[in-house]
Amino acid sequence: MSGWTVKETAPAKGAASGRGASARADADARADDGTAKDLAIAPVIAPVDLGPIHIPTPVVLSPMAGVTNWPFRVLCEEYGPSGLYVAEMITARALIARNPKAFRLCRFAPSEKIRSLQLYGVNPAIVAQAAQMVVDGGMADHIDLNFGCPVPKVTRRGGGSALPWKMDIFRELISRVVAVCAKANIPVTAKIRVGIDHDHETYLEAGHIAQEEGCAAVTLHARTTAEYYGGHSDWYRIAELAQSLDVPVFGNGDIWGADDALAMVRQTGCAGVAVGRGCQGRPWLFADIKHAFEGSTERTNPNLGEVGRVIMRHARLLVDFFDGEERMAVHDLRKHIAWYLKGFPVGGTTRKAFMECESLADVEREIGRLNPELSLPERVIDTPRGRIRYAKKVHLPYGWLNSRGTTRAEREALFGDDPMDAGY
Ligand SMILES: Cc1cc2nc3c(=O)[nH]c(=O)nc-3n(C[C@H](O)[C@H](O)[C@H](O)COP(=O)(O)O)c2cc1C
Repeated sequence: MSGWTVKETAPAKGAASGRGASARADADARADDGTAKDLAIAPVIAPVDLGPIHIPTPVVLSPMAGVTNWPFRVLCEEYGPSGLYVAEMITARALIARNPKAFRLCRFAPSEKIRSLQLYGVNPAIVAQAAQMVVDGGMADHIDLNFGCPVPKVTRRGGGSALPWKMDIFRELISRVVAVCAKANIPVTAKIRVGIDHDHETYLEAGHIAQEEGCAAVTLHARTTAEYYGGHSDWYRIAELAQSLDVPVFGNGDIWGADDALAMVRQTGCAGVAVGRGCQGRPWLFADIKHAFEGSTERTNPNLGEVGRVIMRHARLLVDFFDGEERMAVHDLRKHIAWYLKGFPVGGTTRKAFMECESLADVEREIGRLNPELSLPERVIDTPRGRIRYAKKVHLPYGWLNSRGTTRAEREALFGDDPMDAGY
């Protein structure tokens, strides 16, 4: 654990100009032999504690609906055994209704060291009730609250990234969940965006409210709802929030490789990073980030033979996840296979054959047809992946932006509409 002690001081404002150029500059700073020229000034990243939870490497697998179920988390944690791996969002109402799908998403593998769940809801009473279920059932060690979801079916009901705009509900929701969890010493964190759009930014107040109401950390995805997954995460906002709060801030958005993680910490002074799309089809990114945070230049660049072995392991874990339903597992695996193969020079026919697999045997057969010696071309390593687009329009409840609070009538209308299934 040497080299983990001192956190670099936050940079002067203006130092963080967003990803891309800066991260590339870091990569460019590498010498021809692959070693970093500036290792001497590489940030030394301190572990982060969330209440009783110790995170030696402050890297978080950002919750992703349909992606971060336990099979994928297990793979990520095997590569980076000292981070925090969050399950995908679970709708509070569905949990209370004991919806079997919601319960499946709450399962953990025995190997998972920290059981981390994310809850979503609009009505503070319902989310607190779901948190109480988690506490009573000993279902998790950490609860994250989703205030970042941009999908229309969520924001049009005032949920996800729309909610911090209504400061009264936002505050009450956090305060009630924290009160429930405090009794069991379960830390609560909040995941927020910059705001609804640049005319309606909320992240600074939201961060402060989360801190005041007892959140152990805040994660900022530095895009607005309107930006959805397009453009760039504005790391300057992460720097601002990190400087403005006492609780740890995890920076999120556009970490495609370990150099990006290092650059984000260096530029923003955030306590740690949360990785979303960058690890899709690349669970080994957590090993790379661990190495980078320890000051090592070691990086994982598996050839197709090794990737094939990871795919098969992922497939078998998914069969367990789906209680032996092989077909469901293989259908779920298809999107992961597309991500695993991204950037490798394999043709359309091969990709199509994988998309038509129905069984483990089919997947194994197609993997057997790949050239195991192929490696990822240098130019595509650590480049963007996953969905990248702007929202067509932000959908909000009628009159939502007219004020920062809610009337009793508005709350009643909203809470009656809290959805049961709010997947991304
Ligand atoms: C497919 C998908 C599903 C997501 N599901 C969730 C979710 O359930 N909860 C959440 O807070 N964020 C969710 N997100 C947002 C990510 O956690 C993350 O904030 C976002 O992708 C930005 O990080 P990135 O640029 O590293 O991808 C999702 C993103 C994607 C692409």
